Amino acid sequence: MKKILITGAAGFVGRHFTRRFLEAGDEVHAVDAVVPDTGGIDPAKGWPLFDPRGFKNFHFYREDCRQWFKQHLDTDFDYALHLAAMVGGRMMIENNPLAVADDLSIDAEYWQWAAKTHPKKTICFSSSAAYPIKFQRSGNYQLLKEDMIEVGGDVGMPDMSYGWAKLTNEYLGKLAYEKHGLKSVTYRPFSGYGEDQDDHYPFPSICKRAMAGAGQPLLTVWGTGDQMRDFIHIEDCVDGVLLTMDKIDNGDALNLSTGIYTSFKQFARMAAEICGYSPEVRGTSNMPEGVFARGGDTTKQKAYGFQYKVEFRAGIERALAWYAGGRDKGKVESRK
Ligand SMILES: NC(=O)c1ccc[n+]([C@@H]2O[C@H](COP(=O)([O-])OP(=O)(O)OC[C@H]3O[C@@H](n4cnc5c(N)ncnc54)[C@H](O)[C@@H]3O)[C@@H](O)[C@H]2O)c1
Repeated sequence: MKKILITGAAGFVGRHFTRRFLEAGDEVHAVDAVVPDTGGIDPAKGWPLFDPRGFKNFHFYREDCRQWFKQHLDTDFDYALHLAAMVGGRMMIENNPLAVADDLSIDAEYWQWAAKTHPKKTICFSSSAAYPIKFQRSGNYQLLKEDMIEVGGDVGMPDMSYGWAKLTNEYLGKLAYEKHGLKSVTYRPFSGYGEDQDDHYPFPSICKRAMAGAGQPLLTVWGTGDQMRDFIHIEDCVDGVLLTMDKIDNGDALNLSTGIYTSFKQFARMAAEICGYSPEVRGTSNMPEGVFARGGDTTKQKAYGFQYKVEFRAGIERALAWYAGGRDKGKVESRK
């Protein structure tokens, strides 16, 4: 049995890791302040896909992790997954960059805690938002490769304060290894999605809009709708981490991506098609859309033995079935 710390455990990503570790028989110390406007859900209210409360090895601390770090100096954690962050979707990233800058202090205090307690391994979630935006522009974009960020060297301009904080986190992880011998691995997830993701994110909101508008002639998406993302299912993200986390110790980064670009318009069309109709899909220009194209090269992940499994269409079908109250993962019936 391993002793695991998960900061941000009540969030979208954290809930999936909590489940995997508890089901494997590990002891999980889950710290989360359940901050408003994030994806956090208090376990007391019930998590959508999994109830951790029946596990005697589940210890939940509803607390700011910065406070928790001051009071808990256990030196026997096998893995520390540091996920706590102010994320909150595109609106939060663009309209509330100073709130997001909280991530700088959350990460600084994590690494200071780790230097005192020496968890055997830190699993750190950075983001694809850390990549230079100059490689993600219309007419000039390319799949983002891990070595486009030279931590401690040429890093470029990341995406808003969110990407900037993630870069700083990566740099702190490198310094922690060099100065304190702290082992860590960094992940840069692209657009992680799943049926239990908060509605602030494009995935659930487009799926739910497509369902609600079934049979209508028009379906809208944010921005121009031509912006493209690399959607990777949350279960693939978790598999990718569990498969590779023991193979990197020096803070190096690995993408969690599929290498496939999907525009919001293509996504909405697919969702509508699964619901049995073919609307015109139009962008709403008054909503933020972020960079034009963000997709992650998969060469390094493959070299470490990981490849995604869930095709995006299958992920949409699964979510639509779940939203519709279906029990199986099959195709959603037409709701025309
Ligand atoms: N979901 C994705 O596709 C994706 C992509 C790239 C990076 N990430 C990274 O993965 C991590 C988890 O993201 P998520 O999608 O689960 O977001 P989320 O908003 O669902 O979860 C973040 C959690 O952190 C908690 N939190 C925030 N500040 C805290 C604090 N000071 N103390 C304790 N808890 C705090 C929130 O309450 C929330 O439960 C983040 O670091 C995020 O940057 C996620």
